[in-house]
Amino acid sequence: MHLSSSTWQELEAQLSRSKGIVIPIGSHEQHGPTGLLGTDALCPEIIAREAEKISDLLIGPTFSIGMAQHHLAFPGTISLRPSTMIASIIDWVNSLARHGFTRIYFLNGHGGNVATIQAAFSEFYADYSYAAEPCPVALMLKNWWELPGIGKLCTDIFPVGHGSHATPSEVAVTYWAYPEKAWSGGALDPKIAPEGPIRDAGDFRGRFPDGRMGSDPTTATVELGGKIVSASAAALITDAGKFFSGAG
Ligand code: NI
Repeated sequence: MHLSSSTWQELEAQLSRSKGIVIPIGSHEQHGPTGLLGTDALCPEIIAREAEKISDLLIGPTFSIGMAQHHLAFPGTISLRPSTMIASIIDWVNSLARHGFTRIYFLNGHGGNVATIQAAFSEFYADYSYAAEPCPVALMLKNWWELPGIGKLCTDIFPVGHGSHATPSEVAVTYWAYPEKAWSGGALDPKIAPEGPIRDAGDFRGRFPDGRMGSDPTTATVELGGKIVSASAAALITDAGKFFSGAG
């Protein structure tokens, strides 16, 4: 079930069955010459949508803009400052909590969001901690590539040139959903991009001129993306199910 395509009455009925919701969360930022700007928002959304087809998970709208300031020297990147993102996440959580959701599972697609999402969780919990009041909501952050078994699957499929940004695994996931966007332009130069520190946007573009970090995403295919999506969807159903039932 997807929140966006449900009526309020259907949501109310769903809440009588489960107080859990999965929120895909990501970013719009450059993903090298072969990857889509929406990759980090699309990956968790694609996985969650696939899980929704074969389970009773409730999937919320995608929080699709993240903390991507270091990619702003590339056209198409849209970023929230950490402080803006923290405030937005808290408003999303409080909206859902008001309706009775008690377990909110953020399925994340962007490593650069992690620190900010965790800070948002701390700010949310602080209202209860300082007031000595029981908090009615538990929050979970899970990067999709850290779902049980998925990190190993990705590096088994792409043992060379996986890298850390514009990786073949994330690019493959998007190709599975948008096969018309699969790269057919041949090898990149250099074949495997450099690694290095992340600082401001200008520094990033200087270090990583085509946007990739440590990766060779030309190995991504629609078929390999499908393998990652189906395994990730199954892992999400188990992982979110455990959390919604009170574990973790
Ligand atoms: Ni990414």
